[in-house]
Amino acid sequence: MLKVCRHWLVPVVHAKSNGVTMAVTILNGDVRKVLPTLEDNSVDCIVTSPPYWGLRDYGNADQIGLEPTMHEYLDTMVSVCRELRRVLKPDGTFWLNIGDSYAANRGGSTPPPETIASGDKMRGRKDGYNPSRDPKGHGLKHKDLCMIPNRLAILLQEDGWYVRSEIIWHKPNPMPESVRDRPTNSHEKVWLLTKSEKYYYDADSIREAPSESLLKQIKEGYEGNGTKDYESAKVQNPSDTKKRIIENARKKLEAGLPIGANAKNVWTITTKSFKGAHFATMPVDLAERCILAGCPVGGTVLDPFGGAGTTGFAANLNGRNATLIELNNEYVSIAESRITPNLLEHFEVKDEQTNDGPRFVATG
Ligand SMILES: C[S@@+](CC[C@H](N)C(=O)[O-])C[C@H]1O[C@@H](n2cnc3c(N)ncnc32)[C@H](O)[C@@H]1O
Repeated sequence: MLKVCRHWLVPVVHAKSNGVTMAVTILNGDVRKVLPTLEDNSVDCIVTSPPYWGLRDYGNADQIGLEPTMHEYLDTMVSVCRELRRVLKPDGTFWLNIGDSYAANRGGSTPPPETIASGDKMRGRKDGYNPSRDPKGHGLKHKDLCMIPNRLAILLQEDGWYVRSEIIWHKPNPMPESVRDRPTNSHEKVWLLTKSEKYYYDADSIREAPSESLLKQIKEGYEGNGTKDYESAKVQNPSDTKKRIIENARKKLEAGLPIGANAKNVWTITTKSFKGAHFATMPVDLAERCILAGCPVGGTVLDPFGGAGTTGFAANLNGRNATLIELNNEYVSIAESRITPNLLEHFEVKDEQTNDGPRFVATG
């Protein structure tokens, strides 16, 4: 019998911000069993970083990520994502952060140095744990980059998802690597996937900050003049175009509207170590950008691989509800302790509710 433990952070601490009631719910269990309990078209946005293939041991027999072959891993991820598509609203967005792995022959006592994710706790493990990224049977060779993010995106596209953007999360402080025959890896991908052609996307919420020079030109006016004979060449005078852009920006600024350029698809965000026991946390800034652009205020964000609760934390900072699914109950506790003070600090707590509500109520 399926036993889903519902770990409510806020059944209890329903917090209010701008008239919007928010809650974080953590569902403790295997995503493959928990997702079918969620309703069709019930979440506005999905933000997640699943376990990468063959990189970490999350200490649970039901964990995803340690499949013996890359294809088994990809098949599992495609079927989890299919179920995610069912629970996502038709105009919802799915932000999938996924890193790559290197194929590595095993056999010796030394684990291969090739790894991508930072903080890989399996290197040098003394208990002999040795996840396979064996290239045999994959068309891969020892030392090949597996290209998992790209393979997964193509499979998801074929399965019905719209692939709308390939975002590069550039890490200015990457994990040092001991390799000497290739550049150090300093990025991961975030795929923006959708269920439909049209979907909720708030471009204004993640616009780039306007440049100093634009602000100066708005303030002082722009009187530049083109020096070439644009008229007889029948092309627009670039100075006129620039004047128009600056004038439009000034009007927007006066109306309190954002004036920066549309967000680009390379996001520079530093990795930050998290002191809890979980060792693969996403930066809050990364989750926040996805939530701001992809989920309306008061909507619900789902993270099917909730970990230490970064998505829930970021959702609540920004007035969104969150549902997290996490297999490992230690991480559930970490997420709870991380999110609850945040809720209490930032939002009004309803009088009639207390913090002593039910925990780990078994359903189903
Ligand atoms: C990369 S971590 C997620 C980190 C998270 N974004 C954060 O910032 O804390 C992947 C998580 O997936 C969880 N996980 C692995 N297999 C799972 C499964 N079958 N069902 C649910 N969660 C699973 C792991 O326990 C781990 O916490």
